[in-house]
Amino acid sequence: MFFSSKPFEFSDIPDLSGKVAIITGSNTGIGKVCAIEMARKNCQVIVASRSEDKGQAAVADIKEITGNDKVEFIKLNLLSLQSVQAFVEEFKSKYDSLHILLNNAGVMMCPYSLSEDGLETQFATNHVAHYFLTIQLLPLLIKSGPSRIVNVSSSGHNFTSFYAPDLERINDEKGYGPFTNYSYSKAFNILFTIELAKRLEAKGIKNVYVNSNHPGMVRSELGRHSVSKDSLFATFLYNVLTVPTEKGALTQMYLATSTEVESNNINGKYYVPNAKPGHPNGYSKSEKNAAILWDFTENLLKEKVSGYQGAPV
Ligand SMILES: NC(=O)c1ccc[n+]([C@@H]2O[C@H](COP(=O)([O-])OP(=O)(O)OC[C@H]3O[C@@H](n4cnc5c(N)ncnc54)[C@H](OP(=O)(O)O)[C@@H]3O)[C@@H](O)[C@H]2O)c1
Repeated sequence: MFFSSKPFEFSDIPDLSGKVAIITGSNTGIGKVCAIEMARKNCQVIVASRSEDKGQAAVADIKEITGNDKVEFIKLNLLSLQSVQAFVEEFKSKYDSLHILLNNAGVMMCPYSLSEDGLETQFATNHVAHYFLTIQLLPLLIKSGPSRIVNVSSSGHNFTSFYAPDLERINDEKGYGPFTNYSYSKAFNILFTIELAKRLEAKGIKNVYVNSNHPGMVRSELGRHSVSKDSLFATFLYNVLTVPTEKGALTQMYLATSTEVESNNINGKYYVPNAKPGHPNGYSKSEKNAAILWDFTENLLKEKVSGYQGAPV
């Protein structure tokens, strides 16, 4: 494995003129920082967010901060597979290339609820919708290569060591644990990365680099369901333990933009701050588990999306 001898900095992002990037959940948090830094480097950035108001406000901010006008909002609600399809159709009607897909949006430790398609919210948002989005955009990513896919995971995936997921019961309310289910969903980001890289390689496709990462413990809106704002001590501890979103964006910016990803053939890997190879836990690094999750997700999409043809790899 390779990693830079010096910490990655935003100034290491190469010029991205002519590149097109989609960043899910980039109206706030780490995703918004990524959108700003890529726009600064002349990238065409698509802010893929569920709220038109928040998405448009972010676009206005990013344009003002960077002076880059090539920033656009396209609505994407990851709690609806139909919305994912509509997003892909709109994107493809406007753009004929895609170089960077940053699967960043996420939800953590929310109360139990179901998506429009009857899937548990964290499973639906963090894994299934991003899987579906990626699979539909894959032909374009291949055609536009060299291209990158980054699946934002979390060190929280480590908790799957204590609770091996039963995929058949993943959407059940009985047995739902806000943190347990978050851990599963973040383990799935790593497993999806492993299997997709393997399948691309098996097809002889060498120009799509797919990796996953943990951004660090970052001060963002992710704790909206879990961090109490009423307790001064909890707020103090949270501030001590977390880093600003700018720091949290570095590892995924490395995987999405650094020339080292191609020169060192970094593919199918999991990275941690600051841009270093990480070690997924036993469940999440297993090729067998990656294949099982892939098949499970494919079957789910065939059941939920009429006309779904299956992944092209
Ligand atoms: N912060 C951390 O310490 C930390 C640690 C490990 C991993 N991560 C991962 O880093 C990624 C970014 O998190 P963050 O810290 O930047 O969190 P954040 O500030 O809460 O941002 C999350 C983004 O995801 C969007 N999102 C949530 N549900 C969505 C849906 N159904 N459809 C479309 N967009 C949706 C949110 O949109 P709304 O504003 O509309 O809700 C928001 O834009 C996540 O994948 C998270 O799991 C974060």
